[in-house]
Amino acid sequence: MDSHYSKLMEKCTQSYSLVLVFFCLILFAVWCILHYKKQVIVRWPIVGILPSIMLNAHRIYDWTVDISKAFGGTIIERGPFFGRLEIVHTCDPRNIKYILATNYENFNDRQDYSDAFDTLLGDGLLTATSKFWIAQRRVARMTFNSKIVRNIIAHKGKEVVQHALLPLLSHLSKESSVVDLQDVLMRYMFDTSVDIIFGKKSNYLSTSFPPNEIAKAMDDASEAILFRHLVPISWWKLCRRLKIGSNEKKLEAAGKIIDRDIAKYINVKRDEMVAKGTKVDEYEETDLLEVYMSNKDGEKDELMLAKMITDKFFRDTCVTFLVAARDTTASTLSWFFWSILTNPYVEAKILEELELIISKKNTMKKHPVIFDADDQTGMVYLHAALCESLRLWPAVPLLRKTPTNDDVLPDGTVIWPGMTVIISCYAMARMEGVWGKDCLEFKPERWISEDGKLNHEAMSKLVSFSLGPRNCVGKDMAFVVMKLVASAVIYNFHFELLEGQHIAPTPAITLKMMNGLMVRVRERVFS
Ligand code: HEM
Repeated sequence: MDSHYSKLMEKCTQSYSLVLVFFCLILFAVWCILHYKKQVIVRWPIVGILPSIMLNAHRIYDWTVDISKAFGGTIIERGPFFGRLEIVHTCDPRNIKYILATNYENFNDRQDYSDAFDTLLGDGLLTATSKFWIAQRRVARMTFNSKIVRNIIAHKGKEVVQHALLPLLSHLSKESSVVDLQDVLMRYMFDTSVDIIFGKKSNYLSTSFPPNEIAKAMDDASEAILFRHLVPISWWKLCRRLKIGSNEKKLEAAGKIIDRDIAKYINVKRDEMVAKGTKVDEYEETDLLEVYMSNKDGEKDELMLAKMITDKFFRDTCVTFLVAARDTTASTLSWFFWSILTNPYVEAKILEELELIISKKNTMKKHPVIFDADDQTGMVYLHAALCESLRLWPAVPLLRKTPTNDDVLPDGTVIWPGMTVIISCYAMARMEGVWGKDCLEFKPERWISEDGKLNHEAMSKLVSFSLGPRNCVGKDMAFVVMKLVASAVIYNFHFELLEGQHIAPTPAITLKMMNGLMVRVRERVFS
């Protein structure tokens, strides 16, 4: 009896001890969560800062601001030891200029980047390296600076505003229905880019909001590529080789759709050019693909002569332009419209500026009013408002670079090969030391100098198009198109923000709004 009683007691004590240990573990876990939650970064053994990254993945851009505020402009962190990830995070303008411009050659290795984007962009300008990048870059700069391409951009950008965007907004205003403005702008930018690049009408922007296979494939591919950026490279490469995991399958399927449809565009273009039998001239209705396909004779570089006859080159170039142009420009416009709706004095000042341009033109006002690219020299305040939007909401919020050699950044941070350098343009915009105490406010005035012209000192701090030899080749195109849209839309319409919506960026390669931008469209009444 005694031994039975003592055995029972022993069992009870063991059970109680187990419960106690379990309870203590839970208490410890709760304490860790509460304690470390307040800390911006927690460094764990073995897994490094991986848990912090995962905990903040949903607000990754704001997390880079927290990091910058807590640790200053630059910080070195370690990922999990098995991922061999050493990250340098910086938003210090001196370092940014050094990495992107002064010593860009040491940070121009894009192997990881190219691998992650390979299915979508191939060897296009964004992902190319070494001699092929230099040669492509020269051709791209020449092409985007040429009169013929500037005409194509101005003409087609305006055409889609006139024949698709304004009619759709007019229809929505009559229906008094609520619409996701971000979706409208994405569709506008898709149609405009497809028209500029391939000379084809895709009619993705229309009152029935139709689906579009290439646009959907591009969205799927971007999502899958974002995932590739978040996991160690060896993981996704293994998944791809073994053909496992929904992410790699989704990317493969999207890649096939894009390849198939772009091949069709290229074949049709070649047939059209053979039928036409002439070279493009300045005033002809043409497109970027045709310009690229017909300028190989004038291109002396041997490397490009060999490449610029292959379908693979045209495919990679066109997809790169489409991907680089669509989401960046549309998301910048979305943040711009939200910013002016939450700062009505800015909208009023833009309207005033547009009125002045119209009054100087001395022509009969026709409704709806659509401005030409030639009118844009007078749009100083609108330009400033777009810059302010790009500052606070950079379409490419994080730039990723890999150093080839040991280096020391201007703030003294030591860099070595194998590190991943993350530049947070998003965090830089929110640093008082860079933009002043009002850095969080939307103030187009900071871009205008006392003489009423654009402020060049502020302009030199705009990193949203990157800096140096690898900066954005489509910057001018982006400004022309954004001003065509903004001027026509603001002059003819007004949006009412739907109340109660939570506007925040979603973790994606470009800075999109998580829940879109829900507005009601009102037509302006002119006296
Ligand atoms: C508001 C709109 C835009 C923004 C904010 C923007 C921003 C950027 C940024 C930050 C980069 C550097 C990316 C990196 O180094 O990782 C870049 C590169 C590039 N952008 Fe844009 N972009 C915009 C519009 C456009 C447009 C309309 C095009 C037209 C085709 C374009 C074409 C390119 C290309 C081809 C590159 C690669 C340049 C190179 O690596 O040499 N972008 N852009």
